[in-house]
Amino acid sequence: MPFETPTLVDAYFMDGLLLLTCIVLRYGNTVPKTSLPRQVLNYTTSEAGNPIVDGWYADPDTAIYEGKHWIFPTSSYDYDEQTYLDAFSSPDLINWTKHPNILTVKDVAWAKYAVWAPAPAFRNGKYYLYFGANDLQEDEAKRGVVGGIGVAVADKPQGPYVDAIGKPLIGNYSTFPGAQPIDQDVFIDDDGRAYIYYGGHKHANVAKLNKSMTELDKFEDGTEFKEITPFDYVEGPQMLKRQGKYYLMWSAGGWTGPDYRVSYLMADSPLGPFLNKTGNLILQQDSAVARGSGHNGIIHIPNTDIYYITYHRRPLGETDGNHRVLCYDRLYFNEDGSIEPIKMLVKDNFADGNMYGWKTYGKVLDGVRVTEKKLEVKSDGEESVIVALDTNFADQTYDATVHLTEGSNSTTANAGLLFRVENVSLGLASVKGYYAGLSNAGRVLFTKFSDGKPETTVFVENVTIAAGVEHHVRVRAIGQSISLYVDDVESPVLRVNDTTYVHGANGVMALDGVARFGNVSISEVV
Ligand SMILES: *[C@@H]1O[C@H](CO)[C@@H](O)[C@H](O)[C@H]1NC(C)=O
Ligand SMILES: *[C@@H]1O[C@H](CO)[C@@H](O)[C@H](O)[C@H]1NC(C)=O
Ligand SMILES: *[C@@H]1O[C@H](CO)[C@@H](O)[C@H](O)[C@H]1NC(C)=O
Ligand SMILES: *[C@@H]1O[C@H](CO)[C@@H](O)[C@H](O)[C@H]1NC(C)=O
Ligand SMILES: *[C@@H]1O[C@H](CO)[C@@H](O)[C@H](O)[C@H]1NC(C)=O
Ligand SMILES: *[C@@H]1O[C@H](CO)[C@@H](O)[C@H](O)[C@H]1NC(C)=O
Ligand SMILES: *[C@@H]1O[C@H](CO)[C@@H](O)[C@H](O)[C@H]1NC(C)=O
Ligand SMILES: *[C@@H]1O[C@H](CO)[C@@H](O)[C@H](O)[C@H]1NC(C)=O
Ligand SMILES: *[C@@H]1O[C@H](CO)[C@@H](O)[C@H](O)[C@H]1NC(C)=O
Ligand SMILES: *[C@@H]1O[C@H](CO)[C@@H](O)[C@H](O)[C@H]1NC(C)=O
Repeated sequence: MPFETPTLVDAYFMDGLLLLTCIVLRYGNTVPKTSLPRQVLNYTTSEAGNPIVDGWYADPDTAIYEGKHWIFPTSSYDYDEQTYLDAFSSPDLINWTKHPNILTVKDVAWAKYAVWAPAPAFRNGKYYLYFGANDLQEDEAKRGVVGGIGVAVADKPQGPYVDAIGKPLIGNYSTFPGAQPIDQDVFIDDDGRAYIYYGGHKHANVAKLNKSMTELDKFEDGTEFKEITPFDYVEGPQMLKRQGKYYLMWSAGGWTGPDYRVSYLMADSPLGPFLNKTGNLILQQDSAVARGSGHNGIIHIPNTDIYYITYHRRPLGETDGNHRVLCYDRLYFNEDGSIEPIKMLVKDNFADGNMYGWKTYGKVLDGVRVTEKKLEVKSDGEESVIVALDTNFADQTYDATVHLTEGSNSTTANAGLLFRVENVSLGLASVKGYYAGLSNAGRVLFTKFSDGKPETTVFVENVTIAAGVEHHVRVRAIGQSISLYVDDVESPVLRVNDTTYVHGANGVMALDGVARFGNVSISEVV
C-alpha cells in the first residue's frame, strides 16, 4: 500500500523508525489513526466478495492497529474445538492476512473450551484481548465453577496473548440475574473512560474498566455493574460513538436460527438509557443471500464518515449452526444520526485473488482459478464447468464481464451467466435454470436447462461476439420477463418470457474453452 510523502506520522511503521513507534504507542491510548494509508477505503460492500476469509468464523470485532484493519473472530468449529483464536489483518479491507492461534487455551490456565467473541483494545502501550471461556452457566457459577470473561495482553496485535490476571475478570453472574459472562465489547470513550459491555442469555450489563484495563472500576454510586438490557436483546453488544452519540448494537434471535439479527439504540451517554427500550432493526437474513446474519463489529475509516458493519452469517445451503462466515457491508447513517437498514450486497471483483463463496461443479482439468482479478474457468470441451454462488435470487439484475479467451477457438466454445439455477449441487446432470451465454460462433444465446440438458435455446445473431474481447453481460429477470444485455445496458439484445424457473442460484459456466469472468454483481429488483 503506497504511502504519500512520508511525514513522521505516516512513517511510524516504516523500517528504521520502530523505536519512535514504540515511544509513541507506549504513551498513546489509541494507535495514531493517521498511520493508515491515505487511500480512502470507499466501498459499497466487500467488493472482492463475501465471505472475506476462508473458514468458519463468527462474532467479528475490529481494531485499527499498526496502520491496518484487524478482525478478531470466534473460531466457529465444533464446540470442543473452540479452543483458540485466529485474527486477520488488512491494509485495504480486500487482502486479509491470517494470524493463527493468537490465543489458545494453553495460554490461559482456567480456560478449557468455548473461547468466544474476542474484543480488542489498545492502551498503556499494550494490546488487550477480552474473551469469553468455558460457557459458564448460572448454576455452575453458584457451584464455584470457573469461567466467564478473561483478559489477555500482548505486545503486538497478533500476539502471542497471555492471560493478564490468571482468573476471569468477570467470573459470575454479578449483581444481576441472568447475564451470562460472555460476548464482551470494550469501548474507550474520548474522555479516556473505558467500559466493558457484555452478556448472554438475554441480559446485558455494562461495567467500567480502570486504567489498568485488567480490573473493574466502580460507578459513582458505588456499584460495579449496571443492567442495560434493551427489549429483544439476546447477546453480542457493541458500542459505537459517532458525532457525540452513543450507539448500542446487539444481536437478537437464536444464534443457530435463520432470524439472528442486529438492532441498535442511540443515546447521549455510554450508559444509555437502553434498559427495556425497543431497538431498531438494521441487519437481518435475506432469503436470496444468507441466513442468521448477526453479532456485529464496526469498521470506521478514520477522518471520514465511512463505516462498515462486520458480522457473521450462514450460507443458505448450510444447516450446521457453526457454519458461519465473516462478512462486511457498508453502514450508512441518515441526517438525523439514525442508521439505514443494511443491505447484504452480492459482489465479487476478485481483487483479493480468491473465490471464497464460489463452488465448482463439473469435470475440471486444469482447474478453476482467480487470475488478474478474473475468475478463470477452463472446460475441456466434453463437459461444461459451472462455478456457482450459494444465492437464491428471484427478481434480479445480474452483471458480470465475460471473456472467452483467444485460445477458445472451437466453434462450440461458449461462456456466460447462470441464474435461477436449482440443484447444481446434485451434479451437472441435475441442473435446472437459465443460461445467458456468449458463443465463439459470434452470437449470444439464451438457454433453458432441464436436468442438465439444454431444453430450448434462442440465438441472437445480430450481436458480434469475439473471442479475446471482454463483454459486459447483464441479465434482468423480473417475474416471467427476462432481458439480456451485452455491452449496451440500455437496450436488451433479447427479451423472452418464461415462467419455468422462478428463483435459484447464480453462477458462471464455460463449455469447450477458457473463459474469464469479472466484476460480478447481483442485486434484487424490488
Ligand atoms: C465514495 O464514493 C462515492 C461514489 O463514487 C462518492 O460519491 C463519494 O464522494 C466517495 N466518498 C469519499 C469519502 O471518498
Ligand atoms: C496480500 O498481502 C500479502 C501479505 O502482506 C502479500 O504477500 C500479497 O502480495 C498481498 N496480495 C495482494 C493481492 O495484494
Ligand atoms: C462476583 O460478583 C461480585 C459482585 O460484583 C464480586 O464482588 C465477586 O468478586 C465476583 N466473583 C467472581 C468469582 O468473579
Ligand atoms: C484499578 O482498580 C483497582 C481496584 O479498585 C485498584 O486497586 C487499582 O489501583 C486500580 N488501578 C488503576 C491503575 O487505577
Ligand atoms: C424492565 O423490564 C423488566 C421485565 O419486563 C421489568 O421487570 C423491569 O422492572 C423493567 N425495568 C424498568 C426500569 O423499566
Ligand atoms: C486454438 O487455435 C490455436 C492456433 O490455431 C491452437 O494452437 C489451439 O490449440 C486452439 N485451441 C483450442 C482450445 O482449440
Ligand atoms: C432439486 O432437488 C431436490 C432434492 O433432490 C428436489 O426435491 C427438487 O424437486 C429439485 N428441484 C427441481 C427444480 O427439480
Ligand atoms: C438485433 O435484433 C433485435 C431483434 O430483431 C433488435 O431488437 C435489436 O435492436 C438488434 N440489435 C442490433 C444491435 O442490431
Ligand atoms: C412477454 O409478456 C408480456 C406481458 O404478457 C407481453 O407484453 C410481451 O409482449 C411478451 N414478450 C415477449 C417477448 O413475448
Ligand atoms: C470493473 O469494475 C471496476 C471498478 O468499478 C472498473 O474500474 C472496471 O473498469 C470494471 N471492469 C470492467 C471490465 O467492467
